[in-house]
Amino acid sequence: MARLKINYTCQSCGYISAKWLGRCPECESWNSLVEEAALPCAAPPVYRHGKPQAINEIALPGTARLPTGIGEFDRVLGGGLVEGSLLLLGGDPGIGKSTLLLDVGMKFSQKGKKVLYVSGEESAAQTKMRAQRLGRAADSLWIMTETDIDGILAQAEAAAPSLLVIDSIQTMYSAQLPTAAGSVGQIRECTGKLLRFAKEKNVAVAIIGHVTKDGAIAGPRLLEHMVDVVLQFEGERVYAFRVLRALKNRFGTTSETGIFSMEEHGLAEIVNPAGLFLKDRATGGAPGSAICACMEGTRPVLVEVQALAAPTPYGMPRRTSVGFDYNRVNMLLAVLEKRLGFEFGVQDAYVNVVGGFKVNEPAADLAVAAALVSSLRNQPLDARALLIGEMGLTGEIRRVSHVARRIKEAASLGFERFIVPSGGDSRELRAKYGGIVAASTLREALREIGIG
Ligand code: TYD
Ligand code: MG
Repeated sequence: MARLKINYTCQSCGYISAKWLGRCPECESWNSLVEEAALPCAAPPVYRHGKPQAINEIALPGTARLPTGIGEFDRVLGGGLVEGSLLLLGGDPGIGKSTLLLDVGMKFSQKGKKVLYVSGEESAAQTKMRAQRLGRAADSLWIMTETDIDGILAQAEAAAPSLLVIDSIQTMYSAQLPTAAGSVGQIRECTGKLLRFAKEKNVAVAIIGHVTKDGAIAGPRLLEHMVDVVLQFEGERVYAFRVLRALKNRFGTTSETGIFSMEEHGLAEIVNPAGLFLKDRATGGAPGSAICACMEGTRPVLVEVQALAAPTPYGMPRRTSVGFDYNRVNMLLAVLEKRLGFEFGVQDAYVNVVGGFKVNEPAADLAVAAALVSSLRNQPLDARALLIGEMGLTGEIRRVSHVARRIKEAASLGFERFIVPSGGDSRELRAKYGGIVAASTLREALREIGIG
């Protein structure tokens, strides 16, 4: 028998080399090349023997939207699952991926659709126990424990479900490859087969994928371009708050997010997240606390930024930041020091966004800066003031998007003063809401809130 040809495949990006290399030339990760048998791809590509067609003559197949019954999930997808599409759900272990897709399966089956949930991680009984926590299952929800992809596809073909869930792609293997489940070759092969199944049988397929240390969806980046939709489930395990984001969506936008709370009985949808993080807030208005409104997809979420400035006992001042970019904290401190003369050089500074929310937009700069100054001065800010604005290096406040939407939510939650960047629509806002203060510099904003 002819000897099997051996290739070396990068487990992080899928790069293939004929010889072993210490460092992948593609993604530059070290020690990631693993020996794999070079076999002809068992799953032929989905689209073959193509011919050009005039665009107006192309017949559309029944690519109907299938709302799952979980509003926040459908919102991220742009209305629901699409027939014949392949979806990848990524996230840290334990974040709730299995819970989410089992819940999707349950709600979907309650609409009379047949769902096949295949787990390679948990027994059928364990999955049933989980399902019982989530609610009452319909008869059209089918559970299977299996890791052989060919066996799964044979069963799925016979069962003809509307939705096939694979939990998780790292546990699946194809007997045609000699490598272990979870290797790049196996993941690519199994995904290729699932892709073909989805397209040929016009079934929606959802795959769960674990995320590696550095946040990429399990090793193979290559999965991301094979699938139609990539969703990412995020959150801190110690908090109940979870966000579902679309990183890629061939059928809709990637700007919407779904917001959930992990409760005892599964994931609760949070349709209006604006006041979610202010529930446990001390009303007294302590020094070092400021409120900003951040956009989560198209919805504003009000978050409390806390800062603590304390004299450095010895040596270099310490800075830490949780939920807000560390480098931005340093930048804001430098602006406060150099442009406004606050002496942070001899202060340790800590910034924390309450409740496990991760701020990823500069619109929170003004709130962070105000919280830092408030702590340094030991003066509380007005507890009903909302601060919105990006900080520039010269101490100017820069405009941000969706100011009106942010103010609307805050006003409905009882906020009365709104410190916003000057210019833009600040005049129209002033006509609509009382308490609008348009500031063009940080110094002006701080003076307005009484700590300048
Ligand atoms: P799981 O869906 O198993 O995570 P993943 O598939 O992403 O690894 O969820 C794990 C966590 O969710 C687990 O630590 C317990 C918690 N959980 C609840 O809080 N409530 C529930 O109803 C369920 C099913 C899980
Ligand atoms: Mg799981």
